[in-house]
Amino acid sequence: MKNNINTITAALLLITNLTFSQDFKFAAMSDSRGSDNGVNTPVLSALINHMLETTPDVKFVVFAGDMVDGHKYDPDRTKRELLHWKEVMAPVYNHPNIAWPGVWPVVGNHEVQHREDEDNFRDVFQDVFMNGPKEQKGLSYSFDYGNSHFTIINTDAWYYGDLSDTSDDRRDWHYIKYMDWVENDLKSAHERGVKHIFTFSHEMPFPIGGHLRDGLPNLGKKFQTPLDSTRQWFLDRRDAFWELMKKYNADAHISGHEHTYGRQEVDGVFQIVNGSAGAPLYNFNPLPDADTSLHRYEMTYEEAVPYYEVLEYQYGPGKNSQRSENFVGYKIFHYSIYEVTDEKVVVKTYGAYPKEGSNTEFDTEIELIDEFVIEK
Ligand SMILES: [Fe+2]
Repeated sequence: MKNNINTITAALLLITNLTFSQDFKFAAMSDSRGSDNGVNTPVLSALINHMLETTPDVKFVVFAGDMVDGHKYDPDRTKRELLHWKEVMAPVYNHPNIAWPGVWPVVGNHEVQHREDEDNFRDVFQDVFMNGPKEQKGLSYSFDYGNSHFTIINTDAWYYGDLSDTSDDRRDWHYIKYMDWVENDLKSAHERGVKHIFTFSHEMPFPIGGHLRDGLPNLGKKFQTPLDSTRQWFLDRRDAFWELMKKYNADAHISGHEHTYGRQEVDGVFQIVNGSAGAPLYNFNPLPDADTSLHRYEMTYEEAVPYYEVLEYQYGPGKNSQRSENFVGYKIFHYSIYEVTDEKVVVKTYGAYPKEGSNTEFDTEIELIDEFVIEK
């Protein structure tokens, strides 16, 4: 009889857990552009196949932009590339354990290079929530899943100064245009009592390599200190965003744009760059002994120092040339799995190192490279 009661109790506990447990896993990856119709298909396919084999209970992927090359003058080509990208991602979209819509897309700078690109992006990715700012419906949005809230922020928008003036075509990128929307969204999630908040954008608040000139600080080239009012405005806006992350107790901001992996805690909030699922790998911000063979966006250490000064990075002999001393990064093709429970998030990053002499191919096994915990 006692055994029967134990069995019934165990069964009830199991049912209770199945019914009320809000634990789940999601994946984050980004930047898969390459030479097969705008996509690095061999690397992206290898990563998603590995993910579905190793973590078949993953519920969805958030893809932080730059899926494809895109084109400045040919929006139809960009659209075809995005449709091709969805075909390459079909194993994710069609997997029986994956929850709707399979992949949550984030706009990257490569997707928005022409005034028609935003509408094409909306067309290709119709399965998102239309709760973003009026001008960015379908491009910025948010949702709850299980015990968590997800906010997708478009940082690479088109400029809407004068829609009828075709000579006024330009990107309006690298900043968070609708900070009020972000604040209201994070505030209401916090007040609802969600356990975790994750925000996503293509651009990162704290550049880690190759993009010291841009990202959300957006310092550009040849600046002087004290900063001019435009640069100071971008920097203040970046800071205001991070203040919101702290105020509403967000877990992490996850981005791409930098083609590499890096995580660090800045004032108690994680910045995680999940930035290459096939795009050419970058080096990290240069150290004092950096070699001089540089990718076209990269700088020498001497060129980087003024950026480190303005961005308040750790620099000099023995320092890591990053915002935080606790920075951990690997130059790998990768994806991260976020294992979410009420109390914590375990982040596991699976990746492969590039082939000798290449920054777009790999020939090592995809393996667990990094694991850390976000405690709540
Ligand atoms: Fe990018």
